[in-house]
Amino acid sequence: MAQPCAGDHPPRSLPLLHRGRQGLTCRYRCGDACARPEPNRSANPYFGEVLQTVLDRRGVLRAGAVLGLATGATALVGAAGASSAAAAPAGPLPAAPERSPAPYGLNYETVPPNTDDAVRVPRGYAQQVVVRWGDPIVPGPPEFDFDGQTAEAQAQQFGYNNDFCGLILLEGPARRWVMFSNHEYTIEPLMFREYDAAAPTEEQVRIGLAAHGLSVVEIVRDRTGRITVDLAGSRNRRITGTSEFVLDGPAAGSSLLRTSADPTGTVVLGTFNNCSGGVTPWGTFLSGEENVNQYFANADPADARLARYGFEEGASERGWETVEPRFDLAKEPNEANRFGYVVEVDPHDPRSRPVKHTALGRFKHEGATVRLSKDEHAVVYLGDDERFDYVYKFVSSKTMRNGHSRQAREHNKTLLSDGTLYVARFTGDSPQADGSGTLPEDGAFDGSGEWIKLVSGSTSFVPGMTAEEVYVFTREAGDKVGATKMDRPEDVEPHPTTGHVYIALTNNTDRGKAGKAGPDEANPRVDNKHGHVIELVEADDDPTGTRFSWSILLVCGDPADPSTYFGGFDKSQVSPITSPDNVAFDTHGNLWISTDSGAALGQNDGLFGVSLRGDTRGRTTQFASVPVGGETCGPVVTEDFVLISVQHPGDVDDASPANPGSTWPDGPGTQPRPAVVNIWHEGEDGRPARIGI
Ligand code: FEO
Ligand code: CA
Ligand code: CA
Repeated sequence: MAQPCAGDHPPRSLPLLHRGRQGLTCRYRCGDACARPEPNRSANPYFGEVLQTVLDRRGVLRAGAVLGLATGATALVGAAGASSAAAAPAGPLPAAPERSPAPYGLNYETVPPNTDDAVRVPRGYAQQVVVRWGDPIVPGPPEFDFDGQTAEAQAQQFGYNNDFCGLILLEGPARRWVMFSNHEYTIEPLMFREYDAAAPTEEQVRIGLAAHGLSVVEIVRDRTGRITVDLAGSRNRRITGTSEFVLDGPAAGSSLLRTSADPTGTVVLGTFNNCSGGVTPWGTFLSGEENVNQYFANADPADARLARYGFEEGASERGWETVEPRFDLAKEPNEANRFGYVVEVDPHDPRSRPVKHTALGRFKHEGATVRLSKDEHAVVYLGDDERFDYVYKFVSSKTMRNGHSRQAREHNKTLLSDGTLYVARFTGDSPQADGSGTLPEDGAFDGSGEWIKLVSGSTSFVPGMTAEEVYVFTREAGDKVGATKMDRPEDVEPHPTTGHVYIALTNNTDRGKAGKAGPDEANPRVDNKHGHVIELVEADDDPTGTRFSWSILLVCGDPADPSTYFGGFDKSQVSPITSPDNVAFDTHGNLWISTDSGAALGQNDGLFGVSLRGDTRGRTTQFASVPVGGETCGPVVTEDFVLISVQHPGDVDDASPANPGSTWPDGPGTQPRPAVVNIWHEGEDGRPARIGI
């Protein structure tokens, strides 16, 4: 049986869940990554002290379009259909005391840590499910029937385990957005009443393929604050595990990417394990292919390149190779090389084929977030979410064209096709960290850093590797140039106004173990169960440059734990937080963090607001929590509402359809269903009020 991904120790001051997060998430999302040796066995060394560069910390992000995520809304149009559980802020545990004035945008009653089978939001806030697994997103499919699922219906319904969520505001009189969700992975033992993992039926395999992928839907917000899917939306579509993708960029067509079904090396079927993502300033959505190794069978154990990505011999977890031979690496060894990319979807052209960008490298991509340089090069920040893997950035060779003309749009959709890919090296400015999390004598975990150039167009800067090899075996390139081994880099996202980049490092319980990398100033805790958040500042506020400074903003965990750090803020006034995963920003400049593995502190996962400014910098308070066994993903924080994605609710010990671990969102007698949830502030006049005001 798999080991839990994180958190095998009871919390200091919080009750244990009576049913813990179970191994299904680990098996079906990550391929039990945490229970296996980390794929990075490189002897890639740590670099010692180097000159610390004093950097200008001012910064202004050029692009306003990303802010489209966080613009206000008032609205029209009718709602209904979705379930609505009333906000219930009271819980069995005390809220963190709030003695200091709340920063603008974070003025809400802190949600206490809890283990409830419900979404909890602050008093005075309402919530509602926008769309859940199995809901139709186009006209036509039957209503969801847990016991009567078909692949044909699933391909027209919202997929399983939605993670990232992005919004683009649409023009017009009503408050409409196009919403993008990805469907990271399936948990077949919770999806099917009769499921034999050793012999899945062909229809179960095909339902699994259809439940992966992406959803694009138009949504509308009404006067009361409720949000519904407009089934008539012209942009609505599902992209599944069998949809055609175009392989794009410098490695497209490479012999490394050709298969018997695609001798051109340019067309791939499907996208899998899409984790986080991003919204581009030119109006497209990005999504990262993460733990793709688990979908493939029969890897050659002697192939070090497959091993570096975690591909293994034997049958795959879901047995897809029994239905589609392309998942059998003994038959199609190059099929593995066609997954592990950032994908881009143009939501405004539902007939367009989504694209896989080889220029952004191939690894276990978490997300992809864009900042524009002053001269409008697209800079994309990227994390490789595995223990001891790396942080990357890409700088486009072309610049963005403004305007809404078709020519401008088509040009901008080529920005991620050509550029320069870098990997990060972090250097501390204090003596070697002792692994306890104790702050160094200079009062900060901080230092300088370098973006190491890996490849630019067709030119490789990595000794012994061609450019095509760098794009397809990017982890190996990072090993060779001495990138810093990090504690599972998840979201890496630039602040929309300062340009500072926030890196969520979710956890790494192997840090400091015998034979593995020890602590350094950027990853300062051994047995790092609760993760940390780094703030990175580009030198001269130029994201196209190669130098940066950095400091740790949060060292997460129970605030009573001496190894935790909340930006220097009074720890008696913050919420316990563990395993930071996704980050977002509000229009007031606050950071928001959603978590994965709250069980490491004996609590459900949640969404937390974090102040970045002044005397309240580091003030971290919980805004929402998700049901038992679930993970909080994909936060979108606007002035008027917050969306969260509730992934794998009910994934707890011994759960099954006969013994569900959760009955959220539909209540007693039902199966748990991953969903997007809308949260809004109920004003005194019955109309929605601003979030956090
Ligand atoms: Fe899918 Fe990195 O979490
Ligand atoms: Ca220091
Ligand atoms: Ca994640």
